[in-house]
Order: sequence, then structure tokens, then C-alpha cells
Amino acid sequence: EETIKISASLDCANYLDLLSDIRKLEEGGVNMLHLDIMDGHFVPNYALGTNLLRKLRPQTSLLFDVHFMTSNPEVSIPIFADLGADIITFHVETTSRLHQMVSSIKNLGKKAGLALNPSTPPDILEYIFPYIDMVLVMTVDPGFVGQKFVPEVVKKVQIIKSLIDSRHLNIDIAVDGGIGEKTVPLLKKAGANVFIAGTSSIFSGKDEIEIAARKFRELCE
Ligand code: DX5
Ligand code: ZN
Repeated sequence: EETIKISASLDCANYLDLLSDIRKLEEGGVNMLHLDIMDGHFVPNYALGTNLLRKLRPQTSLLFDVHFMTSNPEVSIPIFADLGADIITFHVETTSRLHQMVSSIKNLGKKAGLALNPSTPPDILEYIFPYIDMVLVMTVDPGFVGQKFVPEVVKKVQIIKSLIDSRHLNIDIAVDGGIGEKTVPLLKKAGANVFIAGTSSIFSGKDEIEIAARKFRELCE
């Protein structure tokens, strides 16, 4: 039985008062902060920078679940490992040297994740499975919060889950983009166990953040 993990997407939090949102997320029992790093090249947007993470790191013991939406992971990996990332996830679409990138993350003592855009077929994972800790299955095209969920991706989560199970590997399956009441049940059934909470859940504005975090965990458990 996979343990359920909640990773709250900081890009969806209140930038003008991040620390109090982080405290509420801690109180609400999330496991990780999902830190979207965008370089304006792999995605047409910018998000979160090195100085912010440097300031945030000593403020919380929540795990830093760093999601690179950047073109050159080999540049970003050492920088964000040094900033205190716990999990470093890069997009398979941004490099052909997956094994080298993954081993450089592992050599820095971090967990390694691979992210796939909605249209990227799962078989790209075939020869790298033994080396990774997590697959981040994008359920929207990356780059912006609040985008429309791509339902075809549920099938891909099922395929990835069966690929992992057939190898008796213990790899987390994370889902990211439009994750909320309507989509969690489908994704959970398909095999996801890490849920990235954004504007469709914790940061929807319906509830105060701590309450919303507790409700989201109930939905995911
Ligand atoms: C999108 C990011 C997601 C996003 C999630 O590029 O990777 O983490 O912040 O937010 P929602 O769930 O609102 O799309
Ligand atoms: Zn993300």
C-alpha cells in the first residue's frame, strides 16, 4: 500500500505573505513544499528563484520538492541541491542524458524525479526506472497554475503504475496540475500516491489554508 504524500505548490501561495502560508501548510499536515522553478525557456513563464529558496530553507522543515521547468537541468541540479532541495525533478523533454542527470542528483544525496508532459509517452522511463525515486506525471502542460486537466493522462498513470509494479520497484507517482476533488479519485485509482496541491485544492480560496490542507489529505487518503 503506497503512502499518500501531499506536496503544496508554493507558486499558488500568497507571495506577499509566504511564511504565514507555510506555517498554515505545516499545521495542515502537508508533507512537502512543491517548488516550481521556471526559466522562461522550457516554459513561457518565470517562477521562484535561488534567493527565495535560500531564505526559505532555514524557515521550515517541510521537504523541498523541486520541480524544474528549465531547459538545462545540469546547470540547475547543483545549484538547487546546494539550496537544500530534498527531491529534484527534471523534465525528460529537456535532456537526452537521463542516466547522467539522475546519477548527478543521487551523487548529491538527493532523491531524483522525472517529469513527463501530458503528451510524452511513458515508455521513455523503460531503462531509467531502477535509478529514480519518483515520476512526476504532468496533468497539464507545465508553466502556469490553474490550467485545465488533461483527462487522457489518467491512463498514462495506470501504465506507469503497472510498469513499476511489474518490476517490484518502490517509486512514487506524483501528479501535478489541476489536482482536486474531481481528479484525485481517478488518479488515486490509477496508482498515483503523491498529490501536488494548487489552485484546485489547498489554494482554491474556498477554505482557510490549514483547513483546506486537512480536507485535501482526507480526499487523497
Ligand atoms: C504548473 C506547475 C504546478 C501548478 C499546480 O506548471 O507545475 O505545480 O503550480 O497548480 P494547479 O493545480 O493550480 O494547476
Ligand atoms: Zn509543479
